[in-house]
Amino acid sequence: MEIREADASDFGEIRRFMELVDHEFFPPLSARSGGIPGRISSCLAGTDSNYLIAEINGTMVGALGYLENRNGIGEAYTSFLAVSPNHRGQDIARKLDAVLTQKLQDAGISSINVTTWSTNPGAYEMYRKLGYSCTQTLKDHRDVGVDTIIFQKNIGPGD
Ligand SMILES: CC(C)(COP(=O)(O)OP(=O)(O)OC[C@H]1O[C@@H](n2cnc3c(N)ncnc32)[C@H](O)[C@@H]1OP(=O)(O)O)[C@@H](O)C(=O)NCCC(=O)NCCS
Repeated sequence: MEIREADASDFGEIRRFMELVDHEFFPPLSARSGGIPGRISSCLAGTDSNYLIAEINGTMVGALGYLENRNGIGEAYTSFLAVSPNHRGQDIARKLDAVLTQKLQDAGISSINVTTWSTNPGAYEMYRKLGYSCTQTLKDHRDVGVDTIIFQKNIGPGD
């Protein structure tokens, strides 16, 4: 498996991949502001944001979208992480997170923030396994009974 940074020519493949996993997000990515195309183009066009893509024999099996320096305060934000349903449980999310962490450390970033939601216990467990800690829970933030959970991993020197 290879992990690389996406560029504008990957737009179609990322879109196809996001549509594949769209229904697993709450709310679905397609129902959020800008929809799937808006989400991808704002990232691929930005200077501070990008996607890491995991590929096996040229086929996308995982992707991670991130903002390198959100709000200019040296903290990164992961805006999207998913692995193809056929390739889960093979450490692909862990490897994407490891590549991201190394890149951000090299850039002097001190932490990575990410949000998930309370009805997604698999993601909750995964972030804990990858070294993230829950810093805040926003009660009923996504819907009645669906909280937003904010995680953070410190990656600065000495962490
Ligand atoms: C969550 C998701 C990205 C995990 O990808 P993955 O490649 O299967 O994860 P990995 O194999 O790298 O697992 C890393 C660690 O997390 C754990 N983990 C991953 N998915 C898990 C799950 N559903 N339940 C419990 N633990 C899980 C693994 O056991 C592993 O820990 P361990 O080796 O110490 O036991 C994938 O299931 C997915 O795309 N889900 C749908 C989209 C989603 O929910 N994204 C996150 C939204 S914020």
